[in-house]
Amino acid sequence: MSRGTISAELPYIRKVGLELLNAEYETTEEANAAIPAGIEAFYAAEYPEDIEAFRADLDRATEALIGIYNANFFPEMKTDYRVRLNNISHFTNEGCFRSHNTDLVADNGASITASCDTCHSIVAQGPSDEVAELETDLNGLEFVHPVDIGGVWRRIKCTQCHTPTQGY
Ligand code: HEC
Ligand code: HEC
Repeated sequence: MSRGTISAELPYIRKVGLELLNAEYETTEEANAAIPAGIEAFYAAEYPEDIEAFRADLDRATEALIGIYNANFFPEMKTDYRVRLNNISHFTNEGCFRSHNTDLVADNGASITASCDTCHSIVAQGPSDEVAELETDLNGLEFVHPVDIGGVWRRIKCTQCHTPTQGY
């Protein structure tokens, strides 16, 4: 979406796209038919007046979703990105936070810091898409969670809310 291959102008495309990607299919062929059909059905039902104006964006989004599906889901092999973890995520699995957390404490009281700036230097931060409007600091900024969750991300792992079944 940030590259624009899947247009952010399409209402609910992220939600609908993720639901179609994460649905259960027996074969790649079935998924490759269900994704365009699901996109078409959603926009025909919810946006009948706009669907033709959306057409070019819908075609591009559908093609991109099929590409994502085919690179990440292997129904014949009964596996997909949710099963074969690569452990570099904070979302689809605990990734870095398997070890970097405050729950694992050695007998001598030591734990491995989960402090974001151990690994990240956030030099610019949204919410705006306009670079000029971003808050920037080459010395690093404190993470601001995109949605106000009252700072609980400091105390609990990202995966307690961002789960594999959500696809993120
Ligand atoms: C031990 C190192 C480490 C720590 C500590 C760490 N991160 Fe990360 N983070 C990474 C790596 C590596 C990636 C890239 C993972 C990837 O490409 O999926 C990443 C990716 C991310 C992303 C992008 C995720 C995505 O999938 O798009 C965000 C947002 C993020 N980190 C926020 C944080 C926040 C907030 C903290 C502190 C609570 C934190 N990170 C702590 C190593 C770390
Ligand atoms: C208390 C629950 C909760 C925790 C903990 C949490 N998040 Fe979130 N996060 C949300 C909700 C709710 C949203 C908004 C809905 C959505 O986009 O799925 C969100 C959205 C986001 C988004 C924007 C996603 C998008 O596609 O626009 C990012 C990035 C993000 N969270 C990163 C993190 C990181 C990194 C951590 C851990 C350091 C974390 N979140 C911990 C609840 C949480």
